[in-house]
Amino acid sequence: MLKSERKGESVTELLEVQKLSKVYPNGTRALSEVSFSVTPGEFAVIVGRSGAGKSTLMRCINRLAESTSGEVLLEGGSVTGLSNNDLRRARKKMGFVFQQFNLVKRISALQNVLCGRMVDMPVLTSCFRRFSKQERQVALECLERVGLGDKAAQRADTLSGGQQQRVAIARALAQRPSMILADEPVASLDPESAKVVMDTLRSLANEEGYAVLCNLHQVNLADRYADRILGIREGELVLDGKKGDLGSAEIESVYGAEAQEALR
Ligand SMILES: Nc1ncnc2c1ncn2[C@@H]1O[C@H](COP(=O)(O)OP(=O)(O)OP(=O)(O)O)[C@@H](O)[C@H]1O
Ligand SMILES: [Mg+2]
Repeated sequence: MLKSERKGESVTELLEVQKLSKVYPNGTRALSEVSFSVTPGEFAVIVGRSGAGKSTLMRCINRLAESTSGEVLLEGGSVTGLSNNDLRRARKKMGFVFQQFNLVKRISALQNVLCGRMVDMPVLTSCFRRFSKQERQVALECLERVGLGDKAAQRADTLSGGQQQRVAIARALAQRPSMILADEPVASLDPESAKVVMDTLRSLANEEGYAVLCNLHQVNLADRYADRILGIREGELVLDGKKGDLGSAEIESVYGAEAQEALR
């Protein structure tokens, strides 16, 4: 891992994003030389208006989308130049959580988590594979870590939205990642479920040492949960602050004229 100096303290970076830029084929410049880093145990939240480039940034980090230039380092190794098995190995270290959960609806919570262990396999093949007792035990432990051990046998589409998102987090954990990338994980949830999911993500970072990078629309949630707040505006990183740094000037720098709306 990389050692660097941040505000005089020596820190170990888990993720290092260096001058990352992305121009889509249609000419849209979605990211411009974005640089930041995340340490193990840190809950980093990215905020920004719709279209600012938050999802693009996450997708370029785990190579679901290809950046135009710049570099992503995970545990000190470049992710940018990898292909095939090396890329799959690096991706496995970055559990991805989606806004819409992306669970297989008609199978149980446990089976969904088991599929997470098979990231190299097509979803359907992995769903119909027979799993060993040991694999099932690991998956159950992941469900227990998100507080859903008692829901293992329940069909995914009969769980509440908040529970489904926690199954998705358990599925990401089953990959044995070192970091979690979550793209608007609570945007489809009611406030109470959102709180449980955010509490879960925070404890994975602060208590279990995962690096968590989470996109959020809601500034209030970011302020409440984040150890580190990254603000993106029109593809540029305009804010990189610590908990408590999000004052009205900072919010305006990220949201411009929509600053008040972002606080609602
Ligand atoms: N596949 C694509 N092709 C062309 N342009 C794209 C593509 N995906 C995203 N964009 C553009 O890139 C910019 C950033 O989009 P992105 O989805 O990263 O924003 P976002 O911050 O995640 O927005 P939201 O909060 O609405 O999810 C936008 O202008 C968007 O229209
Ligand atoms: Mg998005």
